[in-house]
Amino acid sequence: MRILITNKIEKEIEIVLNELEMPLEGVAVTISNRKDLCDYQFDGVFKLAKLYHKNPMEIGSQIVEKLKNNQDFQKVEILPPGFINFTLSDSCINNELNNMLQNEKYNIKMPAKETIVIDYGGPNIAKPLHVGHLRSAIVGEAIKRMLKYMGHNVISDVHLGDYGLQIGQVIYGLQQENISLQDITLEDLERIYPQMSKLCKEDENVKTICATITKDLQDGNEEYQTYFKVIKELSQSDIKRIYDYLDVSFDLWNGESDAYPYITNVTEELEAKHLLKDSEGAKIVEVSKDSDSKEIPPLIYQKSNGAYLYGTTDLGTIKQRSIDYQPDRILYVTDRRQALHFESVFRVCNLLGYKEKFEHLGFGTVNGPDGKPFKTRAGNTPKLEELFEETKQTFLNSSEKNQGMNESDLDILVNAIIKFADLQNNREKDYIFDIKKFSQITGKTGPYILYTYLRVNKILTQENKQSETLNKIIYNKEDRDLRLKIIELESTLKYAVDTRLPSLLANYLYELCVNINAFYEKNHINNLDDVNKKENWLILLALSNNIIKDMLDLLSIKIPERM
Ligand code: ARG
Repeated sequence: MRILITNKIEKEIEIVLNELEMPLEGVAVTISNRKDLCDYQFDGVFKLAKLYHKNPMEIGSQIVEKLKNNQDFQKVEILPPGFINFTLSDSCINNELNNMLQNEKYNIKMPAKETIVIDYGGPNIAKPLHVGHLRSAIVGEAIKRMLKYMGHNVISDVHLGDYGLQIGQVIYGLQQENISLQDITLEDLERIYPQMSKLCKEDENVKTICATITKDLQDGNEEYQTYFKVIKELSQSDIKRIYDYLDVSFDLWNGESDAYPYITNVTEELEAKHLLKDSEGAKIVEVSKDSDSKEIPPLIYQKSNGAYLYGTTDLGTIKQRSIDYQPDRILYVTDRRQALHFESVFRVCNLLGYKEKFEHLGFGTVNGPDGKPFKTRAGNTPKLEELFEETKQTFLNSSEKNQGMNESDLDILVNAIIKFADLQNNREKDYIFDIKKFSQITGKTGPYILYTYLRVNKILTQENKQSETLNKIIYNKEDRDLRLKIIELESTLKYAVDTRLPSLLANYLYELCVNINAFYEKNHINNLDDVNKKENWLILLALSNNIIKDMLDLLSIKIPERM
C-alpha cells in the first residue's frame, strides 16, 4: 500500500486551489513510487478537470505556476497527462526534521481522544493455545500500543473462552478418571481435552452428557462451579506465562463466564423491542437486510435446551463493557473466519440502538513453507512453546556468532523473529512462517532491524554530539534518502493506526533500516574531519535510532543488549 497523506503539501495545494477558485474536497498527496523522479505526487488534477470541465494539463500548469516559487519545493512540475510531481527543498526537509527533534512524539499531531476497548488474544481455557491465538496476541498487542501512542484511552481485554463445551468435556473426563479436585494438573487437562473432544465426535451420548454438564455449570451448579474454578485457575496461569514471554498484557482478564450476569439485561432489551423470535424451540434474532448481497443468517440467541451461545455471550460482554467503561469504540482481533459472527452481533447492537462503534479486525492463517497450516518439524500443530524453542534453535544455528548470546537476549530475538515475521504481513492475508528465513540477520526480518539499531547505537556511544538542531545542508543522495524516509513517519503511523494495519509500520521500519545502512555504507562517520558534517550526521542517526526504538516498542519488540 503506497498511499500516504502528507498534510503539509496538501495544505499548500488547497490554498492554491482556493485562489484559483477551483476548490476540491479531499486533496490527497501520496509518497512517490518513482523516487528517481520526485518525492511526492498529486493525482487530483484529473478530478479537477472533470469537475470544472477543463483540460488536465492546463489546470496542472496553473497549479504549478503558483507553487513554483514556494520555498518548500526545489522543483514542482507537471507531467503528461496531468501528474504533478514535487521535489522538496533541503530547507523544507530539514525544517521538518528539526520539528521532529524538538517536539514531543516527533511532532506527530494527535487525533481526538477516544475510549477504546480492544478484545484480542481470546484463548480458550483447558484447550491448548495455538498459532491462531498467537497471531491475535501479536497483532492485537501492536494495535493496542499504536492506539495508546496516539493518545487514546485504551482498555485491553483477553476475553477468555471459559464457558464453552470444552469445560463440560473436561469435567466429565476428570470424573471418569476419578481425579479429585486437589489433584488436577495441567497435564491432566492437556491430555483429557483432546480425548474427550474425540469421544464426543464418536459418541452422541457422551456429547449430550458433556453438553448437559456445560449447561448446568452455566446455570450455577455448585459442584461443577468448583471444578470450573480449579480448571480455570490452572489453565489461566499457563496462558499468562506464555503471554508474559511474549510481552503481551491485558488490563482485563474477563471471560465469557463474566458476561452471564449481563445476559438478562440484553434479553429484556431484545424483548422490549420484539426482536426475539422462536425458531424450532430456539430463540433467534433476525439480522438480514434487504440490501445484503449474501445471506446473513439469524443470530442464535438461546438453544432449545436453554443454553446460550457465542453470540449471546458477546452481546452480554458488550453490555458489560458499556456499563463499565462507556467506550466510543470496541475492536475485536480474531481470525477473519469469524467475520460473519461479528457482523451479526454488531447488527443486533444496531437494532438495539447501541451507540458504540464496532470493528472486527480479521486476520489470515499462518502457513508453513509448504503453504499448508503451520506444523513443527515433528509434524504436529505446534504447542507455542515448541514453536519458541524451534525458533531459538534455528536462530542459534544460523550463525556461530549467535551462540555467544545470553538467554534473555535470545528470548528477545525469538520474540523479534516471530513478531516481525507476522507483523510485516497485512493482517488480513495468510502468510508463510519460514523460521529459517525470518531468523536471518539480512532481509526483511526482526534480527535485521535489531542489528541495524545496535550498529548505529555503537557509533552513537563512541561519539559525542553537542546539539540537537540540524543545519540546512544535505550532503549526498544517501543522506537525503534517509532524511526523506524519516519525515514519512507521521503519515505512515497515522495511516497504520487508521487502517489498524501494523504491517504499514513494520514495513516502514524495514525501509528506514535499509536507508540507514545505505547511508552508513556511504558515509563513514568515525574518521570524519569536517566537524559540522559529523555533528549533523550524528544528530540524524540518533533521531533514526530513537524512531526505531519507539516504533519497535509499538510492535512489542524489545532490543537485546548485544548480538
Ligand atoms: N475464544 C475465541 C476463539 O478461540 C475468540 C474470542 C474472540 N473474542 C470475542 N469477543 N468473541 O476463537
